[in-house]
Amino acid sequence: MSQAYRNLWISKGGTEVGKKRYLIFAVAFVLAGNMSLAVAAVTRPAVGKRYDKTTGMCRELHFYNSGWVSEGHDLFRNNCKTCHNHNNNKGARFLYSESFTMEGWNRVFYKKNVKCAQDGSWGKLSQEQLSRVNDYLYWNAFGTYDANTAERCG
Ligand code: HEC
Repeated sequence: MSQAYRNLWISKGGTEVGKKRYLIFAVAFVLAGNMSLAVAAVTRPAVGKRYDKTTGMCRELHFYNSGWVSEGHDLFRNNCKTCHNHNNNKGARFLYSESFTMEGWNRVFYKKNVKCAQDGSWGKLSQEQLSRVNDYLYWNAFGTYDANTAERCG
């Protein structure tokens, strides 16, 4: 190959190959990026924030989906649902996370003006535990469910 031809080949073919390679690389990069985003949506906890008026703290919420595997959920089930279940004989109305809005739950835990909070039925729980129950109920409160958001459909 003469030097002139070689230069021509590089300037034409060389750049063509370069462009193609760049394109393939770019496509692969975008695909890989999307895939890792999809994986992240499944494996990473969704993050939210809640201002807790009782403690004056901004709480970061890290829940997987509905957070049914969380301390807040367990505390709610073992300390509140013991009375607030269907057919209880404690005179407690059935409660679930959607019984109140996000603000509604915050109000319940801040004001503590419900019967059981005042008669000592919440007494076994520390402030941090109550805040965790509040976090969980807030996260799943009435109006928070969005069928279009995969992260919240579990
Ligand atoms: C020993 C039984 C008992 C336990 C435990 C209990 N509650 Fe209650 N709760 C009651 C009763 C009784 C009432 C008054 C009747 C009603 O409104 O359900 C009440 C009322 C409430 C109300 C007001 C309901 C309304 O519609 O206005 C809320 C909210 C509430 N409780 C939340 C909780 C939470 C949160 C917990 C756990 C931290 C809890 N309760 C634990 C018995 C209990």
